[in-house]
Amino acid sequence: MAVLGRVLMVTLLFCAGFLPALSVDRSNFKTCDQSSFCRRQRKLEPGSSPYKALLGSAKVSEDKLEVQLIDDKNEASLLLEVFGLNGNMTRIKINEINPLKPRYEVPDVLVGTPLPENLHVTGQDENTLELTFRGVEHKLLLTGTPFRMDILSGRDLVLSVNSRGLLHFERLRERKSNLSAKVSMAFVNLWHRVKNLFSSDPEKIDKPLEGDVYPGEEAGKEEGSKKEEEDDEPGMWDETFKGHTDTKPYGPSSVGLDFSLPGFEHVYGIPEHADNMRLRTTESTDPYRLYNLDVFQYELYNTMALYGSVPLLLAHNIHRTLGIFWLNAAETWVDISSNTAGKTLLGKMLQYMQGGGDTPQTDVRWMSESGIIDVFLLLGPSPSDVFRQYASLTGTQSLPPYFSLGYHQCRWNYNDEEDVHNVDSGFDKHNLPYDVIWLDIEHADGKRYFTWDPHKFPTPKNMLSRLKDKRRKMVAIVDPHIKIDGGYRIHNEIRSHGFYVKNKDGGDYEGWCWPGSAAYPDFTNPEMRAWWSSMFSYDQYEGSMDNLFIWNDMNEPSVFNGPEVTMHKDAVHWRGWEHRDVHNLYGFYVQRATAEGLIQRSGGKERPFVLTRAFFAGSQRYGAVWTGDNAAEWDHLKISIPMCLSLALVGISFCGADVGGFFKNPEPELLVRWYQAGAYQPFFRAHAHLDTPRREPWLHGEENLELIREALQQRYALLPFWYTLFYRALREGEPVMRPLWVEFPSDVSTFAMDDQYMLGSALLVHPVTEANSRGVHIYLPGAGEVWYDAHSYQKYEASQSFYFPVTSNSIPVYQRGGSIIPRKNRLRRSSDCMPDDPYTLYVALNLQGEAWGQLYLDDGHSFNYEQNEFLYREVSFQHGELSSRSLDPRGIFETPSWVERVIIIGATKPSSITISIPGGTTKALEFEYDFNRSVITVRKPGVNIASDFTMSVR
Ligand SMILES: *[C@@H]1O[C@H](CO)[C@@H](O)[C@H](O)[C@H]1NC(C)=O
Ligand SMILES: *[C@@H]1O[C@H](CO)[C@@H](O)[C@H](O)[C@H]1NC(C)=O
Repeated sequence: MAVLGRVLMVTLLFCAGFLPALSVDRSNFKTCDQSSFCRRQRKLEPGSSPYKALLGSAKVSEDKLEVQLIDDKNEASLLLEVFGLNGNMTRIKINEINPLKPRYEVPDVLVGTPLPENLHVTGQDENTLELTFRGVEHKLLLTGTPFRMDILSGRDLVLSVNSRGLLHFERLRERKSNLSAKVSMAFVNLWHRVKNLFSSDPEKIDKPLEGDVYPGEEAGKEEGSKKEEEDDEPGMWDETFKGHTDTKPYGPSSVGLDFSLPGFEHVYGIPEHADNMRLRTTESTDPYRLYNLDVFQYELYNTMALYGSVPLLLAHNIHRTLGIFWLNAAETWVDISSNTAGKTLLGKMLQYMQGGGDTPQTDVRWMSESGIIDVFLLLGPSPSDVFRQYASLTGTQSLPPYFSLGYHQCRWNYNDEEDVHNVDSGFDKHNLPYDVIWLDIEHADGKRYFTWDPHKFPTPKNMLSRLKDKRRKMVAIVDPHIKIDGGYRIHNEIRSHGFYVKNKDGGDYEGWCWPGSAAYPDFTNPEMRAWWSSMFSYDQYEGSMDNLFIWNDMNEPSVFNGPEVTMHKDAVHWRGWEHRDVHNLYGFYVQRATAEGLIQRSGGKERPFVLTRAFFAGSQRYGAVWTGDNAAEWDHLKISIPMCLSLALVGISFCGADVGGFFKNPEPELLVRWYQAGAYQPFFRAHAHLDTPRREPWLHGEENLELIREALQQRYALLPFWYTLFYRALREGEPVMRPLWVEFPSDVSTFAMDDQYMLGSALLVHPVTEANSRGVHIYLPGAGEVWYDAHSYQKYEASQSFYFPVTSNSIPVYQRGGSIIPRKNRLRRSSDCMPDDPYTLYVALNLQGEAWGQLYLDDGHSFNYEQNEFLYREVSFQHGELSSRSLDPRGIFETPSWVERVIIIGATKPSSITISIPGGTTKALEFEYDFNRSVITVRKPGVNIASDFTMSVR
């Protein structure tokens, strides 16, 4: 929920009958111009870089090049490090050589130290150094004056660094003024104080730590700072926004760098924004902003920041995909420009033919408020190479428990135990499958998380047991703002451990949030996280059981009375880092500590499920995310697709949007269309604001109930397919939901498409997202391929565009010729009732009469798959034979599930079908052939899904 929601809603109720358009109050959030570092960075215009690389200072070791950079005033001494990394990656770090105090380097996001790749100098002249990475044909040209770097693959220029000369690195310095000595001493004292505050070792208090450079120690010797004094401008040493002053005790510290991508016109990623998948150019708008914020009633189609940040940008053209991963957790802005933006295709061709033409090029400029420049260049060349490269840095999507791929029923709030019981029974009564019912903040005793309201939820274990008897789960909310209340055990323990984030004066940071006055645990502190995790054990979290899972909301963090509804940047974290440095990591750590808590409560056996609103690079390792507080509007339904696609491209596959829309009331048609779309998005949860009328599926008439049931049924039938896609995401870093261009990388017409998408490489989905729709325009890519309507089996030759007429029950989904999809078609109460159910295999033949598909299964809830208790199989159809074999012989999982039916789509009529298992007999099978649709239905092959078999279709 967003701040002010209730206040505003109360106002709305008074104004009943007058429905204002919902929209964000933009003045609550900074523009680039109001964020002083962004203003300063952006003021620098492209041109010759004031920096030069001192090639004479170059040191090349096995895996790294080091060079000093100085600016044209010969003042700024920066160290550039270039690393070659295994698998076509390069890492570039730029930091001050002797900073006044250490600058923040993002910890805990990388899953390991990337393996170095040898590099050596293969050429040199007076202004250039040529480096070659062993094992790949990439070269790096380092130019001394002006400083730039160019990366070549063979003879192609792939990417340039600082080619527009926008490297801008604000070195830490003392504040120069008449009071300089005083200020300087204050600076030293502050640094010591902050250090002491967080030092657990009394020996170290007030003594410099070895290796630490303390402010003031060298500062006196600094020369040439007159210039900087003159350069001082408002906002450098403090900055006020809407009555909040950011004191900036360490002064300006921002970093910025530009990258040029010749030959690229399409760039993606850097979520989270409510915008199209293809990034826009920002020459006449604000840059894309990455700063985790709780934005009340966010607006669509703009570059404003939202709840989460992943600083990974992807670029794609028909030859190559590449990625730029800017590892920085401070407030960040990203400018994108292009030399072809706004030009028509004809204009571009004319320019090209007249030879005046540059190749198309996209330029990207990153600007962060603090930290260092630490950037990974992922050189592909294919989309799956880039996904693998990024996964090798930040990890892959954790394997969700099977139930969490089912349907989730949520609202703010289910009022009490009886309400929960009634809603739960409603699903049975109306024959609707669902897996999880959710409780929002009202379930806790006065918003004291880890507790239950004693009147509304007096017997949580009874409630959970009843759900458990029906093989269902519950998710309860646990937010990171902790009520300041001497009678609240959680608060008392955090305070006594000193685990709260501190304000700039050393006291506990306090803000206003749902419980009223609240403090914020410092999740960047590993001891704090370990403590937090321990709170989820069954003896600590009273009333919890093993079918209770967790939801972390408001973890940007949301501070209702803070600047931009979040924490003051001069608040102080573990080891003295400012909130400024760690802001975008806070939510990542909250989800991590919660997920680790759920693992620990089971003794390390069970997989967790934790949903988070805020996130950062690497959050995929800890669970699911959703797109926050959307609205019951058609455009919000539509934007859920690009928002989740953008997340999928940066490693976060487990994404969904609130079905029905959080704010406002969906009309039944919108609600139904949203269920139909949500059924084909990875995380499938309905949610609604406290003040909206109830909207459980059976409250909208018989006809709409039937439509929703059908959508849920399609979801549940496909769970084996979803689970297999998530396994591949875990193993290969492949996105589950993916843009068309990932599968059809040379089809330019798909590059900006975000109204339809792929699930794995087999299904193309084009949800209906418009009111009163009579049809949708479908594009089926892949010249020489065929597709089949997943419901009617109608065949389409690709590539083609066509108008597909829809009715209220249409969910346009197409199965790609050449694929095999497993389904479980029996309607059940929940996914937990389905593991032993039989499979139907949908074999969609390509023009060569062939098809392939995979199936992954395990117990669906534990980590036993890591001990080989899984099955990973491939089913293929070639030369008239359907055969099944193991893809991973280590897998030893057993299941009673059998194959009850095989549907072969795009087939000619066979004369006989037989099946044989190794060492067994061959038996004839019954089948039907539908001439009109060219579909064979084979009944009761009767083999176990885990066994090898061969089915001959002659
Ligand atoms: C590295 O790039 C080469 C082509 O430049 C490609 O063949 C190879 O598969 C890539 N390796 C990885 C691990 O992405
Ligand atoms: C096949 O198509 C014909 C003509 O369109 C129709 O009359 C017949 O009922 C169809 N048969 C089946 C099994 O769908």
